[in-house]
Amino acid sequence: MGRQWAFGRSKETALVAFATKMKPRIGVLTSGGDCPGLNAVLRGVVLAAEKLGWEVVGFRDGFEGLLRPEDHVILDSKTTNGIMAQGGTIIGTTNRGHFVAKVGAGERTIVPAKIIEHARSLLNDLRVKTLIIIGGDGSMVTAQQLQEAGINCIGVPKTIDNDLEATAMTFGFDSAVATVMDALDRLHTTAISHKRVMVVEVMGRHAGWIALHGGIAGGADIILIPEIPFNHDRIAVVIKARDAAGNLGSLVVVAEGARPRDGQQVMRETKDGEFRLGGIGEIVAREIAQRTGKETRCCVLGHLQRGGAPTTLDRILGTRFGVKAVQLANEGHFGSMVSYQNYQVRHVPIAEAVNRLRLVPPNGEMVQTARDVEISFGD
Ligand code: F6P
Repeated sequence: MGRQWAFGRSKETALVAFATKMKPRIGVLTSGGDCPGLNAVLRGVVLAAEKLGWEVVGFRDGFEGLLRPEDHVILDSKTTNGIMAQGGTIIGTTNRGHFVAKVGAGERTIVPAKIIEHARSLLNDLRVKTLIIIGGDGSMVTAQQLQEAGINCIGVPKTIDNDLEATAMTFGFDSAVATVMDALDRLHTTAISHKRVMVVEVMGRHAGWIALHGGIAGGADIILIPEIPFNHDRIAVVIKARDAAGNLGSLVVVAEGARPRDGQQVMRETKDGEFRLGGIGEIVAREIAQRTGKETRCCVLGHLQRGGAPTTLDRILGTRFGVKAVQLANEGHFGSMVSYQNYQVRHVPIAEAVNRLRLVPPNGEMVQTARDVEISFGD
């Protein structure tokens, strides 16, 4: 008979008792650009997991946390208490590093097998059986590769750009649109007081959703989006006509990915050799001033659109996505991504969700509605 362990049990019995007392674990990380609502998802994950008796391991700084044993934290209802109203992500994020599986629209690169093995070994050491990955299109490409390598993954789609085909909406978008609307409300007063044209450049990458929704909500007169190439002369005609009709000022919203009919998107190369959209707002402002003689100013909203407290909608959507991700893990739907369809939170295979951008239909209802309220697209 083996040595008696605590409480008169054998070592084996004690170990089995210890093991059964250890809670099952689920991992979570946030990856890519931050956006309002990430903390609501984290809180949803933690509360739903605790209800199942699971423990949540948060990995810091996106996928990079899977490579560094010291970079994880146990998330529970106490550590996530009160985080829903905070912008950003309490566990950090990055859109760089060893796991970047995508560069630019539609391109796919492979995460090295050695890196995936590192991640697998850390997950095993920490007893993490499933990983919830909260991220955009690029992060889902990485998630798919981890899944293909046998690591159980559940995806939660995130982007302020709202440009993923597999989900009707991503959290973060509504907050970004609210920021654009607020900016337009403020700029409206300057436009009218000074009889100026105010040009506002907004984010959205290759999609015009933020510009379109923000522009409609903020009462823009002209909205320029990547899906509808514009013409500088046409914009000038619209502004002159507004002037002639007695309007004191004009508001122009330009998506960072918008381009003239005969031109290219405006990008800047960073010192790391990356290309970043931005700069079209200044060009549009300059062309308007030249063609109309009107005083014109440009305001670039930039990362203001990604920060701050999430809106009601994003808090609720984020919570629903977090809870659904845990349900999917519990039901064994590995390799799937949470998706919002017809007012319901459902799921789709990650493999089907990646690399499919949802762009603004140029002849769709939203564009038509905008045209019906006298908004020009500069075309
Ligand atoms: O995808 C979200 C987004 O905010 C885009 O709208 C924007 O082009 C990009 O990220 C900016 O990325 P970064 O913060 O790395 O400059």
